[in-house]
Formats: sequence, structure tokens, C-alpha cells
Amino acid sequence: MRGFVSLEVIRERCVGAAGETSGRAAREHQENPPTYSRIPSPPERMSVLQVVTVATRENRAGPAVADWFLHCARLHGKFTVDPIDLATVNLPMFDEPKHPRFQQYEHEHTRRWSATVARADAYVFVTPEYNYGAPPSIVNAIDYLNKEWAYKPVGFVSYGGVSGGTRSVQMIKQIVTSLRMMPIPEAVTIPFFTQYVDKESGAFAPGETQATAATAMLDELRRWSDALATLRR
Ligand SMILES: Cc1cc2nc3c(=O)[nH]c(=O)nc-3n(C[C@H](O)[C@H](O)[C@H](O)COP(=O)(O)O)c2cc1C
Repeated sequence: MRGFVSLEVIRERCVGAAGETSGRAAREHQENPPTYSRIPSPPERMSVLQVVTVATRENRAGPAVADWFLHCARLHGKFTVDPIDLATVNLPMFDEPKHPRFQQYEHEHTRRWSATVARADAYVFVTPEYNYGAPPSIVNAIDYLNKEWAYKPVGFVSYGGVSGGTRSVQMIKQIVTSLRMMPIPEAVTIPFFTQYVDKESGAFAPGETQATAATAMLDELRRWSDALATLRR
């Protein structure tokens, strides 16, 4: 792997290329011990963050909220940001005959969704709350796949009335843990979100509190994404 000193090279430095354990190589080793701390770290790879707009209905507020968060994520700068809109993904109600863990997908829409989800290292679901619960679009989108989600962290931007969409988030957290995802506690919660929607343009612009929460969540998502990378290999 680029940037690493191989075991052969380390062994060669310690005991000599031909395996000699005495003489020049041993003396060299004593006089000039290898400094492992100088071994460079692997080059930092940009983690891919998918920001998933959950709401699919006509006249939804979801895209405006997602646009604001996408801006935060791009400014944050530690992810390659990949916007996903479930309205565009347009999955039918779950229709695969085999359990998704086999990844033997019958339908083209599932194969496409599988390739999309697989390319991410972390997710943020931008979600409202419907009837004190999770919107069916996200439950359906999650259920379609299995291994593609595994060992990846997920954060939430939720919006609604007094609850700020938190009941939806709690419900989604319960589901994603069965897929070996890591739902993180840092979140952006937006109660009474309509107060931040510009009446003219429809643009969504909450305050400093939400921007700070977004940064904290993105920082943690990057840490989790890096930490779980070994399990994703
Ligand atoms: C079917 C339905 C159920 C709703 N239930 C809740 C609810 O339980 N809690 C809440 O805070 N808002 C609820 N609302 C209001 C939503 O917060 C508001 O309509 C919001 O715009 C929904 O997000 P969307 O426009 O992106 O779909 C509900 C809205 C709909 C359409």
C-alpha cells in the first residue's frame, strides 16, 4: 500500500536482505534503529457523504432544508458531498423476492439503488416526521438493501413542529441498527421550521444554533466514518 513501509523492508532493515542475523545488518540496526514513527500515514482519502432528502411528496419542504445542509457540508470540507433525493430515486414499494442480504436483485431499480448507496462512507438523512413517526419513503429505501448500509455512520437533520421531527429520527435509528449502521447522537433538530423559510424565495435559513449543530455532527460523522473503514474492507 502506498505510503507504508512493507514488512519485507522493515525485516531487511532489521536483519539484512538475505536473512543474515549477525554482522553488518545487526550492527546497523543497533546503531541506526528504525524509526517507525517516521512511517507516513496513508494519504487521507475524502470520505463520501450522501445527504438524503427523505420527503417525496409534492410541495415538500425537504429540498429547501436539504439545500441548507448541503451548503453546511460543502463548507465543512471534510467530505465529498453527494446529494440524493428519494423523490428522484423513485423506488416502488419494496418488491424484491429474495432477502436483500443475498444481493441477488431482480429489478433494475434495486441494482441502481444498491450502487448508489454502496458508494457512500456516511449518510445524513434529512427527514420530517409524519404522524409521530418515520416517513414511509425512508423505511422503504432502507429495507431494499442490507450490506450496502453496513458499518457506516448516519446522522439526522430533522424538522417539524414542536418535536422538530425527533420521533421520526428515533424510529429510523431503531431500524438502521439492525443493518449494522451507526446512528450518531449529534444531530440537527429544527422545531417550528417554517419560521426559517423565506416567504418570497422559499429558501430555508435557520440560525447559528443549527449551523453549530451541523458542524458538530459533520465532525463526528467523519470520525465514525474513518473508524469504521476497517470493518468495511
Ligand atoms: C401526513 C403528515 C403527517 C404529519 N405529521 C406530523 C407530525 O407528526 N409531527 C410534526 O411535527 N409535523 C407533522 N406534519 C407536518 C410536517 O412537519 C410538515 O408538513 C412538513 O412540511 C413535512 O415535511 P415535507 O414538507 O418535507 O414533507 C405532518 C405532515 C404530513 C403531510
